[in-house]
Amino acid sequence: MNKKFVSLLLSLIIVVAGLYWVFGIPRVGHPEIPTSAEAIASGEYLYNAAGCAACHQVDGADGPIGGYEIESPFGGSFFTPNITPDEETGIAGWTGRDFLLALKYGRSPGGGFYWPSFPWRSYQGMSDEEVLNIAAYMITLPPIRNDTPEHDLPIWQYSWMTPEWNIFADLMEGDAPAVGNDPQVQRGAHLARHFSHCGECHTPRNFLGISDLSNEFAGQEGVASAALTPEGLGAYTYEDFVYFLEDGFTANFEQVGGEMLDVIEHTSNLTQEDREALAAFFFRDE
Ligand code: HEC
Ligand code: HEC
Repeated sequence: MNKKFVSLLLSLIIVVAGLYWVFGIPRVGHPEIPTSAEAIASGEYLYNAAGCAACHQVDGADGPIGGYEIESPFGGSFFTPNITPDEETGIAGWTGRDFLLALKYGRSPGGGFYWPSFPWRSYQGMSDEEVLNIAAYMITLPPIRNDTPEHDLPIWQYSWMTPEWNIFADLMEGDAPAVGNDPQVQRGAHLARHFSHCGECHTPRNFLGISDLSNEFAGQEGVASAALTPEGLGAYTYEDFVYFLEDGFTANFEQVGGEMLDVIEHTSNLTQEDREALAAFFFRDE
């Protein structure tokens, strides 16, 4: 074989592998959605812990019918979809595989890519069992018909940009700090990072909107500048912080406002044990 041919072949293999990496559908198998009462109850708890309703259930709605507007940091708005099991306007018929692909890989049933306004990069640390339990709960919700608006984005933002954005995010976001072996702290880290997604608002982002995990929870200018670090939380004791997660009263005895109120709505529904785990994570000894 001549050299030119070999290098051509190698380049082709690299291009195909690259395309596969970008567009290939992750292998998640075809797991069944569980139907036991325990799975549904666990799913309801986790659905709340992950704050799904904050974006999918507009005030006054009887279910996660979508239509909530999220302003894009790059201009324009996203509108959340209807995630009730409605045949025409919701997600009726979604399989375990569809839920895993959406929540852990940001991929739609047809292989498309979701925008990062859906915080699946935070949810990707959920276990498969946790996602399937959430699915078990969601498919028991009453279907509600509700057409939601199309995203209204500036013309330069195309959905074909999302696969590339994901690759940049994989390469640039870095690693979140390790948390040690204490099971309570580990539980708190799992909840904070992969359910409450505190970092979506409190971790700084770079010019592409990609989280900088090496500065995890250092505060995000213009979104939630409060740093959830030992210095940032200096005014709180561990006990204050546990209460804050329950009732939203800050260390200055003020009711917290803005989007943080939606967060308190879900942390207030966690078990006391899980609020203590969250506090143990944020107040851990480095
Ligand atoms: C910060 C807001 C936000 C939160 C929190 C959120 N979502 Fe979403 N979700 C979105 C947006 C925006 C989209 C649309 C993304 C797109 O069109 O690319 C979406 C899309 C989806 C879809 C795809 C629906 C379809 O028709 O393709 C599902 C399913 C979903 N979300 C479920 C959930 C679940 C379950 C949770 C909680 C674990 C959750 N979402 C939390 C904003 C959010
Ligand atoms: C959807 C965005 C969002 C998410 C997710 C979020 N926060 Fe916040 N947070 C905010 C905003 C906005 C503020 C400022 C609130 C205000 O103006 O009163 C804030 C303020 C705070 C404060 C400061 C309160 C004070 O003393 O003034 C703390 C502490 C806090 N958040 C902790 C958390 C924790 C812990 C999580 C995860 C369980 C979390 N946040 C998730 C948006 C968010």
